[in-house]
Amino acid sequence: MDKKSENVVWHNHSVTHEARVAKKGHKPCVLWFTGLSGSGKSTIANAVDYLLYQQGVHSYVLDGDNVRHGLNGDLGFSDCDRVENIRRIGEVAKLFVDAGLVVSTAFISPFKDDRSLVRNQLEPGQFFEVYIDTPLDVCEQRDPKGLYKKARNGEIKNFTGISSAYEAPENADIHLQTAGKSVEQCAEYIVQALVDAGIVK
Ligand code: PPS
Repeated sequence: MDKKSENVVWHNHSVTHEARVAKKGHKPCVLWFTGLSGSGKSTIANAVDYLLYQQGVHSYVLDGDNVRHGLNGDLGFSDCDRVENIRRIGEVAKLFVDAGLVVSTAFISPFKDDRSLVRNQLEPGQFFEVYIDTPLDVCEQRDPKGLYKKARNGEIKNFTGISSAYEAPENADIHLQTAGKSVEQCAEYIVQALVDAGIVK
């Protein structure tokens, strides 16, 4: 898809990206959470955001369910709509990074190519794929929103893991097997990975 409208000219602003970052005391990045519905993406992203916020890091969470209440409310769950969903979020995440933030995105983002596309439009070291690896049977047992039950009954079409594909990351930057770990342990593990990568102190 051509991402540029016709007859538009890029403006350079007085406050540069480098100047913004220098004021923040940490580096910006995207924590790109991916995993099945009910895997814990939003919960863990929220816990990471809280830890970062307490440390004075400028952070924010973009969440699938929430973003589909507004910006992406026109999109459904066909493969085509999911691709567009992730493309738009990739662009929004890039803006957050430009503004100097640590942005956590919690979207199923089922397709490898879409996740790679987002990675490739950021600078090296600015994109961390965080695989929330919770097995399908565990997600289905939790079924916090009753969606798996509806998907099994045929009330929801194209449901990830049931009637729509999920391409698990093979080389995630952060691979979290959630079984037996608390939300706090998962969040601390991710924040430590950011410390190790020199993003935050
Ligand atoms: S995607 O695949 O990245 O475009 O999906 P995402 O924007 O993250 O939205 C996932 C949330 O939408 C709800 N939902 C569905 N998920 C998967 N498949 C189908 N068909 C579907 N219909 C509704 C569901 O609440 C997902 O939230 P999470 O937090 O992942 O459980």
